[in-house]
Amino acid sequence: MDTILFPARQSTAKESLAAYRGRGGYEALSAIVDAQAPARVIEEVQAAGLRGRGGAAFPTGTKLELTAKAQAEQKFVVANGGEDEPGSFKDRILMEHHPHLILEGVTLCALAVGATKGYLYVNRTYAAAQASLAAAMQEAAGKAYLGRGILGSAFSFELELFRAPTPYVAGEDTAALEVLEGKDPVPREKPPYPVQAGLFGKPTLVSNIETMANIPRIVLRGAAWFRGFGTAQSPGTMIFCLGEEVRRPGAYELPLGTPLRQLIDGCGGGLRDGKAIKAILPGGPSTAFLPATCLDTPLDHQAMRDAGSILGCGVMELIPVGRCMLEEALKHAGFFAAESCGACPACRMETSTFQTLLRQIKEGKGTPMLLDQFDKVAAFNRGKGRCSLIAMAAAPVLSAVRHFRGDFEHHLAHGTCPPG
Ligand SMILES: Cc1cc2nc3c(=O)[nH]c(=O)nc-3n(C[C@H](O)[C@H](O)[C@H](O)COP(=O)(O)O)c2cc1C
Repeated sequence: MDTILFPARQSTAKESLAAYRGRGGYEALSAIVDAQAPARVIEEVQAAGLRGRGGAAFPTGTKLELTAKAQAEQKFVVANGGEDEPGSFKDRILMEHHPHLILEGVTLCALAVGATKGYLYVNRTYAAAQASLAAAMQEAAGKAYLGRGILGSAFSFELELFRAPTPYVAGEDTAALEVLEGKDPVPREKPPYPVQAGLFGKPTLVSNIETMANIPRIVLRGAAWFRGFGTAQSPGTMIFCLGEEVRRPGAYELPLGTPLRQLIDGCGGGLRDGKAIKAILPGGPSTAFLPATCLDTPLDHQAMRDAGSILGCGVMELIPVGRCMLEEALKHAGFFAAESCGACPACRMETSTFQTLLRQIKEGKGTPMLLDQFDKVAAFNRGKGRCSLIAMAAAPVLSAVRHFRGDFEHHLAHGTCPPG
């Protein structure tokens, strides 16, 4: 269980129960059940310093501890495989290839927090992932890794596969809880947070699929082993998705702290046609663009913050030299304007204003003073709204204007993209 590595373009073969057990699968669960020591899961994850891989990088150990401490007759665990972030497919690959790894991770989390029921919240377009998970659930139940009296103990855990809707916001944790309750995918006001009052008002741990996939190996091999990868602030590995703009697209698991350039060139083989890079969107559409001068930035949370962006969920988008950054900003502004659920006036206002301003600038209507409006609109709306979509929508637009102002000024002066 040393790595969960995925070379590009793998087949969609599911790892069998025998193969999973052959590499230490379900040994962590057996050890915790035998020792009757569910708290060890939390201690080990906290010591490992695992941070969520769903985008916000929140410490997973803290979430586990808060859910475990919450007093309630019933608690839930939700494995978030909504994965609607454009360009992301790491959770799909994990679910298709390594369903038992996910099942063991979810079950260990349930044991740790005292949950008796869990949901695999899986993007409804992921047919192969659903089939793979469903088959694995049957196999696991047959060997008492799931269901009533797990491995002969008093611990029972019922797991259900749920086909999640595909609007972007349906992956937000509280919107996912609404969906699981049979409602529309609309984020809830917070607090209370899901760890306090989640599904049906009960304490609920919602964690990303990749986050959960890290738990069995942390419990089995220990925090010190996990910390042998990555940096002090960002321990472990992370799966990064490279798209069609590179020679070898795929999902690559790398130790955190690996230089960005190594991912792009070493794993991805660089941009197709040998083009040079103009800008990097290091964590998906909801993160800030970085200029090519940042190509040696380590892929760790703090280094990315210092450079002006975040790792998000690890979807790497690369913009070649010659591409107009106003067009790039407009593409993302259009995405967020379409995907805002509309529940919060501030989000509707911000996302539609960005789109309107960018369209105006694209046609050369206005003066450079217009370029200062983006920061003002973002500042006015900062911290408002039920979820972080407001902050997500601002990141690519503000950073494109900041780092590539010349492209926007050219549009204002000529009504066209800059030459090249
Ligand atoms: C608009 C929006 C969409 C999101 N989509 C996803 C998603 O598809 N999958 C996911 O794991 N987290 C998604 N998140 C983050 C979740 O709200 C939550 O932070 C995450 O599932 C927690 O898991 P983690 O702590 O393991 O990262 C989204 C957040 C927002 C604001």
